[in-house]
Amino acid sequence: MSTAPIEYLFSRRSVKFVTSPGPTEEHLAQILRAAMSAPDHGRLQPWRFALIRGEAVGRLADLAIGAIRNAGLPLTTEKEASTRKWLANVPLLVALACRMDTRNTKIPEEERMLAVGAAVTNMLNAAHMLGYGAYWSTGLGTYVDEVNEALGFDSLEYRFMGYLAIGTPIDPVKPVERPDYHQFVTEWTGLPEQQSQ
Ligand SMILES: Cc1cc2nc3c(=O)[nH]c(=O)nc-3n(C[C@H](O)[C@H](O)[C@H](O)COP(=O)(O)O)c2cc1C
Repeated sequence: MSTAPIEYLFSRRSVKFVTSPGPTEEHLAQILRAAMSAPDHGRLQPWRFALIRGEAVGRLADLAIGAIRNAGLPLTTEKEASTRKWLANVPLLVALACRMDTRNTKIPEEERMLAVGAAVTNMLNAAHMLGYGAYWSTGLGTYVDEVNEALGFDSLEYRFMGYLAIGTPIDPVKPVERPDYHQFVTEWTGLPEQQSQ
């Protein structure tokens, strides 16, 4: 990494179409370590990941497409074909889940999912910093129980949060223009003149 870290953050963009090589073992370990440094209220460590590599990606595609049909959800032949085309090249999918641990009533449930979201964002940024393309998808039967269970994330205990595809970008990654943050930011002063506005 030769550019300043902050510039890497600014330049991250999602890359859907990736191919081999996927992350080396060392790089995958770094990507997963990055997830461990996410903020986590109560140290619940709610993140869970299942690695789906190589030929297993094709098996997951078969499973998810079958499960979507079994659940009676709409899936056009075009959508199936585009999903299979996308996955044909993806060397690594990380299935993402949040362990809900409902016995813990002190910390709101949504905070567990926010911690997992933060962990996944760290993974996206780590993958980018290591030169890979990565993309978070909640397609592929994310909201279908049969898929969640097959991956080991029974919906009674876990909330399934999709997949991270990671690999080498197929096409050159062009910079994308980001919005001007000013439009999303206000300043609250607590002074009387602001309260009366
Ligand atoms: C939780 C989550 C789920 C997503 N699921 C999908 C998805 O299923 N399909 C899709 O086209 N984009 C999905 N996206 C959006 C892409 O991952 C990506 O963020 C978007 O294409 C914008 O690209 P950018 O990250 O470079 O701004 C999802 C994003 C998030 C945060």
